[in-house]
Amino acid sequence: MARSAILGVGHYVPTKVVTNDDLAKLMPTTDEWIQQRTGIKERRFIEHDGIGASDLAVPAAKMAIERAGRNVSDVDMILFATLSPDVNFPGSGCFLGDKLGLPGVPALDVRNQCSGFLYSLSVADAFVRAGTYKNILVVGAEVHSTGIELNERGRDVAVLFGDGAGAALVGASPSDDRGLLSIALHADGSGAKDLWLPAPGSMHSPHRITHEMLDRGDHFPQMNGKQVFRWATEKMPAVALEVLKSAELTVADVDLFVPHQANMRINELVAKKLGLPADRVVHNIEKYGNTTAATIPIGLSEAFAEGKLGAGKNILLAAFGSGYTWGGAVLRF
Ligand code: UT7
Repeated sequence: MARSAILGVGHYVPTKVVTNDDLAKLMPTTDEWIQQRTGIKERRFIEHDGIGASDLAVPAAKMAIERAGRNVSDVDMILFATLSPDVNFPGSGCFLGDKLGLPGVPALDVRNQCSGFLYSLSVADAFVRAGTYKNILVVGAEVHSTGIELNERGRDVAVLFGDGAGAALVGASPSDDRGLLSIALHADGSGAKDLWLPAPGSMHSPHRITHEMLDRGDHFPQMNGKQVFRWATEKMPAVALEVLKSAELTVADVDLFVPHQANMRINELVAKKLGLPADRVVHNIEKYGNTTAATIPIGLSEAFAEGKLGAGKNILLAAFGSGYTWGGAVLRF
């Protein structure tokens, strides 16, 4: 069975820059608090009404396909990771397929939040190795700005998130010693309510959302930040070591670590636990905040543009987030 590989990566972020000082005009917070606790300086928000996750995905997808040396018409499967779909149904993958002009091409949405890109990569890998599909478009895209509460009640969550999209074209590896060397996925639903969006939801009867829920803010994400922080700093190093072991590599072999971008302090702690020096760890949280399913493909795309994904480089990926879900992967370019 042929190994799978990321053949091209791309990304797109909206043009509207929102600084910490901009947020401080809407809620009691400060640039100092946000930078100290998270490392975030600014994030991007969509420019106007009517822009969904699939719209951000279009330019990211086209960049990934072009960098892979393929045409849009070569795509034979779409995997779309998002926690902020354009609408509740159908999936954003269907909207993206239509916007790219791909009628008949299957589209699957993956609902695994911060680990969504890694879960999707694992699905793509299985399809490629089985020979089912040849050029799979894997997208992570989020519009968070319309789903966060920009006031005092929502400030712990609101300052963290930004909008953006990343994409990868996944196909058969050109050689057996390159491509996706290992991947691991995990979930533990006992922490589901530590970071969740309670409403609207099918568990609420007779209506999925009520005026009372809206008044309580149940339609905004609720987070137990300290608990998520604790889990993330434990599970990300563990899964990183797990995938390195499966790939028969050690931390010393890692040329670049592209972790999910939720908090600069989380990633510094993870890198320290692994013994990885800062110059081998990608970070862009200062520019984009947490773009959830998009952080890893955006990180890969920027690393590619900076010439950091040269042939033979070993790239370690790891993510942790809502679910809880987490995962890791090792790629050789
Ligand atoms: O992809 C996964 C997504 N989420 C995460 O990974 C989040 C993981 N958790 C975190 O990153 C951190 O827990 C946070 C950045 C969310 C918070 O940092 P913390 O050091 O855990 O702060 P805290 O929750 O202990 O809050 C400290 C104080 C509280 O006030 P009191 O109770 O000490 O008086 C908060 O009310 O900071 C207050 N606070 C704020 N102050 C200014 C909470 N949000 C803000 C804010 N600005 N935006």
